[in-house]
Amino acid sequence: MNQSARSASTHFRAALGAFATGVTIVTTRDSAAADVGLTASSFNSVSLDPPMVLWSLAKDSLSLPAFMECGHFGVHVLASNQQALADRFATRGADKFSGLTVTRGPDGIPLLSGCSARFQCKTAFRHQGGDHVIFVGEVVAFDHLELPPLVFHSGRYAIATPKPESASSSWNVTEDSSSSFSQDFLIFMLGRAHYQLFLRLRRELEQHGLAEGEWFVLSILGAGTRRTLSELDELVGCTGTRVTYDQLAGLAAAGFVQLHGAYDGDVQVELTANGRQAVIELIAAAKAAESDAERHLGVDESRLLKQWVKQIIQDSDPGPPATWREVGN
Ligand SMILES: Cc1cc2nc3c(=O)[nH]c(=O)nc-3n(C[C@H](O)[C@H](O)[C@H](O)COP(=O)(O)O)c2cc1C
Repeated sequence: MNQSARSASTHFRAALGAFATGVTIVTTRDSAAADVGLTASSFNSVSLDPPMVLWSLAKDSLSLPAFMECGHFGVHVLASNQQALADRFATRGADKFSGLTVTRGPDGIPLLSGCSARFQCKTAFRHQGGDHVIFVGEVVAFDHLELPPLVFHSGRYAIATPKPESASSSWNVTEDSSSSFSQDFLIFMLGRAHYQLFLRLRRELEQHGLAEGEWFVLSILGAGTRRTLSELDELVGCTGTRVTYDQLAGLAAAGFVQLHGAYDGDVQVELTANGRQAVIELIAAAKAAESDAERHLGVDESRLLKQWVKQIIQDSDPGPPATWREVGN
């Protein structure tokens, strides 16, 4: 292929990549009864009645002879947590089935588990399609699990998350954001989400007789290290709250912490057994509030939400004190 043909081919691939697809693993068995399979995104539906599907296989694929010989194949629509499997089956000539447990379909074709959907197919037609062979299969059996799918778009794996429904709710982010400034304003939304999520934790804090700032102190000490008053003040300072000696003395009197040494910024503070128990209970309450808040989000969506919030935290970080970074690690 000359330079301009190569460049045209690269552009063609890039244009095709604009079409988001799912990811499948197509499997079969060769004449020596060895399992064969590869990752394929060319899968598509053809007909509902009779139920038919298709996919295409590169003519230079090592798997081609097996698919030409065997009268059946299995298509596995991968779930979003199966990216490692997709990578393995996209590796040319690899020992792809090593360590995998398979069940058997018609002609003994291997069937993988944990997929969003599986189609067991009888090869109905093969068509030549340029440098690929198109396999059309009649579906003889299928099953389906409600698992979020793995997506492939622009040469990368992706996650499918449903778009918010259209303007039925005043909480939707509108095109005309000026008409709902506060509802569409990230700082407002993050602030309100924090306030509402914290309400539940605040009730728990009241039961333990703790103020919010005192909870910050206890949660830092929950990492297990003794801290001086100065360190605690610096760390908690990131939340806009100050730590004082009187506050620590109050926590000590209530049995949450033990103080060692000086009466100034060098006083060493550590959790008592009671304090540790309170931290465990409060973290459990915070986790419960988090699960409740995420109840309408899928696993991938909540992972994405955290990824985006982390990005915002990173981009807006004015540079935390070194000790804070230590706690975060
Ligand atoms: C996301 C993705 C989609 C792919 N789709 C196809 C496809 O539809 N057809 C195909 O022949 N190869 C496809 N491939 C490439 C094959 O998986 C890859 O060439 C594999 O190594 C072939 O294995 P084999 O040569 O051992 O048969 C895809 C690869 C990836 C990562």
